[in-house]
Amino acid sequence: MIGNLNHVAIAVPDLSQAIAIYANTLGASVSDRQELPEHGVTVVFVELPNAKIELLEPLGESSPIAAFLKKNPAGGIHHICYEVDDIIAASRQMEINGARVLGDGNPKTGAHGKPVIFLHPKDFCGTLIELEQV
Ligand code: CO
Repeated sequence: MIGNLNHVAIAVPDLSQAIAIYANTLGASVSDRQELPEHGVTVVFVELPNAKIELLEPLGESSPIAAFLKKNPAGGIHHICYEVDDIIAASRQMEINGARVLGDGNPKTGAHGKPVIFLHPKDFCGTLIELEQV
């Protein structure tokens, strides 16, 4: 059911430092910062030929990545995003397959302006999974 890997998201405590590492040390092309108050993050995208790396920094008091950074103060891989053709069909199929869809089960608009859902990490080898309709 899943298609291409869309991105790997890394939560970081200091976005400027993370941008410098990716742009300078790794020589990657990094997008401008995007503040997403409704998701509680500031994000940049590292563009690779076959996928993206999403660097996430907490934004605001109730950022969903604040607890993650408390456990992983240096930062770490937060989630992996796979592409699907139809987010509603994928969401239903995941529930039939016994996986838990987070939130109210309905897709939200993700960082790329496309519908996304998140799947419980305990159902996927300890990794938070994002599905994005492309
Ligand atoms: Co993501």
